[in-house]
Amino acid sequence: MRHLLWLLLSVALHAVAQPARRSGFDDMSPSTQAMQRDDAQNPAMLWAQDGAALWARAPSPSVPACAGCHGEARASMRGVAARYPAYDEALARPIDLATRINRCREMRQGAPRWAPDSQELLSLESHLALQSRGLPVEPPADVRLLPWRERGEALYRARIGQLNLSCAQCHDERAGLRLGGGLIPQGHANGYPLYRLEWQGVGSLLRRIRNCMTGVRAQPLAADSPEFAALATYLAWRDRGMPVESPAVRP
Ligand code: HEC
Ligand code: HEC
Repeated sequence: MRHLLWLLLSVALHAVAQPARRSGFDDMSPSTQAMQRDDAQNPAMLWAQDGAALWARAPSPSVPACAGCHGEARASMRGVAARYPAYDEALARPIDLATRINRCREMRQGAPRWAPDSQELLSLESHLALQSRGLPVEPPADVRLLPWRERGEALYRARIGQLNLSCAQCHDERAGLRLGGGLIPQGHANGYPLYRLEWQGVGSLLRRIRNCMTGVRAQPLAADSPEFAALATYLAWRDRGMPVESPAVRP
């Protein structure tokens, strides 16, 4: 009996903590959904293809390609994107997949790192994220991530910008309502990098969040800021269990 009560209580608490989650995909028009469903129609697949070529190409004759050390991405990178951001010992902070790619680029290939949202980085990131498509988002059970997740949640709930709105006020409290022409989504990060019709190209989660920040007239975060690392860590935890959609499509 005690057991059953505990079970019911924990199920109830779970339900409170996690309202039904809707991916941005669920709110898209049928034609945009069809673009994401069909790889032949999804423009982001062009980036993923470029990424596959970059994976196999050595930066110079004396330096191994990514594939030279990691082999087939389909095998070695399966599930990797689903557990980023992950904690990086050397940097003593969580890093996202883009930063992880750049770490190998710098340290293992001795090559200059790619700029955030550069064609190369987005392509490789799309190629690697594709290897986790359909797998549940699964942040590592690493205690070192906890303070970052908490800091990220605090940032998510803090009012920012001249409009004085928090991420939570739009994405938790007003999700499903209309803002201007579009619908406010729940703001999940499980499709990045993704092709956005408005961008006419593939963009990163960083770019998406910076868009939201300028939307409320706040100072957008820098790519290598601890605040972005914290926010991305929290968003991944908020998305845990949702399937990776990368590289997705959004309006
Ligand atoms: C004023 C309301 C508003 C605020 C505040 C806001 N956003 Fe958004 N966000 C949107 C809208 C609307 C979209 C959908 C795209 C669009 O129409 O620009 C969006 C899209 C997103 C997405 C993409 C979801 C998907 O399915 O691809 C993420 C992630 C996101 N926001 C995160 C954030 C974060 C993190 C913050 C706080 C730093 C934030 N947003 C603040 C309105 C807001
Ligand atoms: C000289 C060998 C070498 C090359 C070349 C190399 N890597 Fe790595 N990579 C490693 C090793 C070793 C690790 C794991 C240890 C570590 O953390 O550095 C790793 C880790 C990774 C991870 C994290 C995997 C995980 O399970 O968390 C990613 C992603 C990655 N590499 C991507 C790349 C990409 C993309 C390239 C090409 C731009 C590349 N690597 C080039 C050796 C290499």
